[in-house]
Amino acid sequence: MASRPHGLQSPDFPLGSTCRATTTLQGMTVHRRPFVGGNWKMNTDLASGVELAQRLATSMREIVLHSDVVVFPPSPYLHSVGKALGISGIGLGAQDVSAEANGAHTGEVSCEMLLDLGCTHVIVGHSERRHGRGESDELVGAKTQIALASGLTCVLCVGETGAERKAGLAHEVTGRQLRVGLHGIELGALEGLVIAYEPVWAIGTGVSATVSDAAEAHREIRRQLSLLYNAELAARTRIIYGGSCTPGNVQSLLSQPGVDGGLIGGASLQAEAFLAIGQFAGEQGRRAAGSAT
Ligand code: 13P
Repeated sequence: MASRPHGLQSPDFPLGSTCRATTTLQGMTVHRRPFVGGNWKMNTDLASGVELAQRLATSMREIVLHSDVVVFPPSPYLHSVGKALGISGIGLGAQDVSAEANGAHTGEVSCEMLLDLGCTHVIVGHSERRHGRGESDELVGAKTQIALASGLTCVLCVGETGAERKAGLAHEVTGRQLRVGLHGIELGALEGLVIAYEPVWAIGTGVSATVSDAAEAHREIRRQLSLLYNAELAARTRIIYGGSCTPGNVQSLLSQPGVDGGLIGGASLQAEAFLAIGQFAGEQGRRAAGSAT
């Protein structure tokens, strides 16, 4: 783990926020560009995935000027979805990647292969892989390390189960997932890191975290990043929320200090719903950029 350099404190965040995706650090305002990801999971078929991508490509042109927008289709459709996205400015990401660079690993897909397909992003450590497929914190860490080293932007998912939350362990769990997930990764390699806070109990349930729970979890994750590295890294790293985020609740969730966007599951499968979420993020990004000039 990289050491915490040169005398920056490990403050509680936010240090003084002037807008949602903004932190004031030692007198300087740090703006974080909003990030909206659509995790399609194991949904769509080839034709409907391409059609969804085409619709987003034509309708989100304005939004991508002010917010990162990325879709994460099933791996077999990456190439076709990437072609449909064309030069729209919407990023292309995979939902998972191998921790291995190459070789005899049947069924695995490497970072280089994703880059060959035009991917810019990858998700690692989604709870459906941690809990559904038994991936350990250490394996997620190895994936994070190889993804960042390859130049992919890596969306590292963390989040507690309902039982862990009830037992008062939420912060401990996200702290451990971050510590092990980033183990051995130097500060300089974290340019392409995005953290997704996805409480497991909120994923696909229709019950999102309350806005205050989400804000508290994001504040804690930022504090943990600050302890692991430094306050500057913590201030500039985007932390996005995932778990039953819809057009109906996006405004309240993304308006919370330190919530820099969303990783959207079910609602990303409908062009109108994903567009509405993207519009809100884009508007936040536009306003933040305006206030910076
Ligand atoms: P839902 O938006 O369907 O709850 O899924 C969230 C998620 O898992 C995104 O990665």
